[in-house]
Amino acid sequence: MEDTKQTNEIISMPRIGERAPSFKAVTTQGEINFPEQYEGSWVILFSHPADFTPVCTSEFMTFASMETKFNEANCKLVGLSVDGLYSHIAWLRTIKEKIEYKGMKDVEVKFPLIEDITMEVAKKYGMIQPGESNTKAVRAVFFIDPKGIIRTIIYYPLSLGRNFDELYRALIALQVADKFSVALPADWRPGDDVIVPTAGSCGVAKERMENKEDIHCYDWFFCTKKISEDEINNGIKK
Ligand code: BEZ
Repeated sequence: MEDTKQTNEIISMPRIGERAPSFKAVTTQGEINFPEQYEGSWVILFSHPADFTPVCTSEFMTFASMETKFNEANCKLVGLSVDGLYSHIAWLRTIKEKIEYKGMKDVEVKFPLIEDITMEVAKKYGMIQPGESNTKAVRAVFFIDPKGIIRTIIYYPLSLGRNFDELYRALIALQVADKFSVALPADWRPGDDVIVPTAGSCGVAKERMENKEDIHCYDWFFCTKKISEDEINNGIKK
């Protein structure tokens, strides 16, 4: 851990269910007006500690290689670090021109990367966590829905790269929960059974336990049903 000196500054931490804080910013793809210009799409806003560092490079190559898959699920990606625009441009050029990693090469990062030298955005989103670092953003991930509401937040420390398959799984799970009014059990993946809302009356509880067809109940409060991968693909993909 580095930069461990604690400050007394009050840091805002957006929470799940709240509107994503608004900001305008300069990025590697021009200026953005966040989250307003993303209305109608899911967006993953994520931070990384610093350009030209190894874990971040491995993350950017992985995320950029999966960008089409996220876009096909109606999700845009937006990155941020407290570096400046020219550092971002130089780093992304280096990634494309020089780095070959785990079969990935010639990787072009097409999603916007926000410059935030003033830390204005990083502080708004609770990405600066002084116990970890006063000068670098932690690896934060905000899933924001098409109405601009924060739906999931994940934080990782500086030393640990994220699992981008998990980010994709979480995105699809959030979309399935919304579209089919269900919840998703531990380790759920598309094609696995989903959880139907818990019975809200004795009558429904009894009915559920007697229904032997499309719903399987482990007990009256824990019932699942099938949603096929086809239904999911038809229901949520663009
Ligand atoms: C990295 O991405 O490799 C990294 C960045 C900041 C601190 C430690 C590691």
